[in-house]
Amino acid sequence: MKTATHDLVIIGGGPGGYPAAIRAAQLGFNVACIDREDRLGGTCVRVGCIPSKALLESSEKFVEIGHDMSTHGITVGEVSLDLAQMMKRKDAIVKTLTSGVDFLFKKNKITRYHGTGRISAPNRVMVESEGEPIELEAQNILIATGSKTAQLKGVELDGDRIGTSTDALSYSEVPNHLVVIGAGYIGLELGSVWRRLGARVTVLEYLPRILPGMDNETADAAFKIFKKQGLEFQLGAKVLGARVEGDECIVEIEGAEAIPCDRVLLSVGRVPNTDGLGLDSVDVKLDERGRIVVDDRFQTSAPGIFAIGDVIRGPMLAHKATEEGVACVEKLVTGYGHVNYDTIPGIVYTQPEIATVGKSEEQLKEANVEYRRGVFPFSANGRARCLNQTEGRVKILADAQTDRVLGVHIIGPRAGDLIAEAVAGIEFGASSEDIARTCHAHPTLSEALHEAALAVDGRAIHI
Ligand code: NAI
Repeated sequence: MKTATHDLVIIGGGPGGYPAAIRAAQLGFNVACIDREDRLGGTCVRVGCIPSKALLESSEKFVEIGHDMSTHGITVGEVSLDLAQMMKRKDAIVKTLTSGVDFLFKKNKITRYHGTGRISAPNRVMVESEGEPIELEAQNILIATGSKTAQLKGVELDGDRIGTSTDALSYSEVPNHLVVIGAGYIGLELGSVWRRLGARVTVLEYLPRILPGMDNETADAAFKIFKKQGLEFQLGAKVLGARVEGDECIVEIEGAEAIPCDRVLLSVGRVPNTDGLGLDSVDVKLDERGRIVVDDRFQTSAPGIFAIGDVIRGPMLAHKATEEGVACVEKLVTGYGHVNYDTIPGIVYTQPEIATVGKSEEQLKEANVEYRRGVFPFSANGRARCLNQTEGRVKILADAQTDRVLGVHIIGPRAGDLIAEAVAGIEFGASSEDIARTCHAHPTLSEALHEAALAVDGRAIHI
């Protein structure tokens, strides 16, 4: 059997694993990364964040050109859809970015193994592929294997008509009627894509609201906007099953009529990828939700074995995994590393985008924290008017005693970019007064954040 020795072996080349590999190499480690897919970049780059954003951009252009141009004084001829070309563009973006990770690995002299990694003993990882297995010896092992779609009892996935987000990124035609199970990030983003391209979309959500966990008022504003865009919702809908029957799919709901449709997207969350990793053999402990238990150095219950990203506690977000991967190897090599879990933004890339960081009003109330709020609508922002995107608002929550910013919730144009200022502010312990006293360029969308900060103290100018 072939063998090799490395300082660090990382299992998983996604947004957690590959930046960790690069950072460890920068710090002088001899690093290897194992991934079973042909292309590096993980779910995020191959079948997640990136291809979905490519389709969200394309489908938004389709809507904009089709419906909105007359207000600009532009008359457009008949607009038609070339779905195959839209998919080609998405695939090309994915290819460029995954090749970019290959390039970065070469540049940083990281050894890449193509196969499935399995921990066979402390400090030993087997790489299993079609060829001869390779045994790697490593002082440190980092598990960054991410997550997979959570299944729902009774929903019979067929990888085509009843499928996951991966399938919904590659439908060969626009569905007549798509039923989405789960009104979370994936359901709303991909539901929006297919709605914009012409499908009837029905979103079934078990809870009485969409986007659980998100600031209520912001989620409610989003709900109203999505309904205006033609997304249909059934809240409080417990899905009992979905199956293909002849030419159609049937989705069964408790206490309600079954829904016939031609495609089903299951998006009820994701679960950690821990199967087949050999965790039992080295006594790596899992919690009650199947996540790997780690300490504040990201070390598992087994010395020398670390884990980051979707396989451990916390939000399943690419940027959270990246932060953890880099912090983990920095702690390992230098003794210092840092992740501030109070400043991890969450963004839903719908139109308008929804972006939040820090605490929601509900969380503050529950913790008995007194706060003041400042709200500013995009309808009063000049740049939003010019963009013709005036829906939504910025809300800043600040501690009533200290004025420290505790949470920022934005729904509106480019909210995902605007939130960066709030993230930096919270990271540096900013007060709402700090943001209020910071000069914001005119005319920009960022002025809405400025005005919301002024509004915390009742002195917004333009409202
Ligand atoms: P999610 O956890 O965001 O939402 C799942 C939804 O399904 C919840 O609203 C839940 O109440 C609902 N649900 C659960 N069981 C149900 C049932 N039996 N019937 C009807 N509804 C049910 O999960 P989602 O959207 O699948 O996304 C998975 C992960 O991927 C999330 O953790 C998210 O953070 C991440 N993600 C992030 C994106 C981003 O950052 N923009 C984009 C896509 C995914």
